[in-house]
Amino acid sequence: MDAVSDTAPPQAFTGRFSVAPMMDWTDRHCRAFHRTLSRRALLYTEMVTTGAVLHGDRERLLGYDAVEHPVALQLGGSDPAELAAAARIGEDLGYDEINLNVGCPSDRVQSGRFGACLMREPDLVAECMAAIGAAVKVPATVKCRIGVDDQDPEESLFTLVDLCAKAGVDTFIVHARKAWLKGLSPKENRDVPPLDYPLVYRLKAERPGLTIAINGGVPDLPAAMEHLAHVDGVMLGRAAYHTPEVLGAVDPQVFGDGEAVGPFEAVESYRPYLSRRLAEGVPLAAMTRHMLGLFHGRPGARAWRRLLTVEAIRKGAGLEVIDQALAALEIAARSREAA
Ligand SMILES: Cc1cc2nc3c(=O)[nH]c(=O)nc-3n(C[C@H](O)[C@H](O)[C@H](O)COP(=O)(O)O)c2cc1C
Repeated sequence: MDAVSDTAPPQAFTGRFSVAPMMDWTDRHCRAFHRTLSRRALLYTEMVTTGAVLHGDRERLLGYDAVEHPVALQLGGSDPAELAAAARIGEDLGYDEINLNVGCPSDRVQSGRFGACLMREPDLVAECMAAIGAAVKVPATVKCRIGVDDQDPEESLFTLVDLCAKAGVDTFIVHARKAWLKGLSPKENRDVPPLDYPLVYRLKAERPGLTIAINGGVPDLPAAMEHLAHVDGVMLGRAAYHTPEVLGAVDPQVFGDGEAVGPFEAVESYRPYLSRRLAEGVPLAAMTRHMLGLFHGRPGARAWRRLLTVEAIRKGAGLEVIDQALAALEIAARSREAA
């Protein structure tokens, strides 16, 4: 596969490859870990509601490490003034992008009148984005679905994008499936409604001036590269989390920049971060839980996963657990070779 095709869109777009916002998963430790595998991938926070940004514990909710840049803050909300205030706080803290969640289908989010149900209120989304755009200088972007429930995606997606574009938004990340707001759990809503990649490609073709990134069901880097022939960016969620090794080839293959990073190298470069956080009292397991899939598909992967799962949760667990897990992986790999 060619590293970068001749027809590729501008390389400058930070979100040409990104890791999706994922609640409970892409916390600061996860992002710092992903950063060891790619210097260039754009990393997203979990969604943080405006209420939490404005009234919550900011260090806990919004604190991050400088190594995470470029890092985008995803907000959940639908009150323009609150979103503007939250976005300003995010920008002041140094986030590189402010993103609005127009894709989450959970009941909690629906009752708060934000997330995916905003696909039904494109004027309000545009108003929110205008307010965010006026409040910050960093890019203000939208992550949306193609529609909800019985909406016609042709209409719902293009209407939302056009109204937001009028309000000054030029970058959209589209999860290429509908959300069904009644009857499906958030988990089912990530798998059951069918994917419609061609619609997102068409959005890019018909709105060439806009920057369009595609998301949903992209399993690996070769598949991501295929999407990049049609759109400006690709966002991986579950594949990046469960098989983080895919991130190791992003810099050379997507950005034409630098060498691929292997999983062993990633472990080594995560160590200084682990040490710093351990010294601050962060439990090892809070960080190593994001590394369980690092050796997925390689000999010894199960031993690595098992050792980290069992040992990292012990009180006072430190970096020696990493050494033990690497040793267990090596022994398992050798015994497999010998068999
Ligand atoms: C555990 C989990 C939590 C998620 N939380 C968020 C979130 O906070 N905000 C958001 O926009 N999407 C969220 N998503 C959806 C992902 O960002 C992404 O759109 C979806 O998983 C489809 O991409 P994928 O097939 O590459 O995983 C979440 C997904 C998962 C698996």
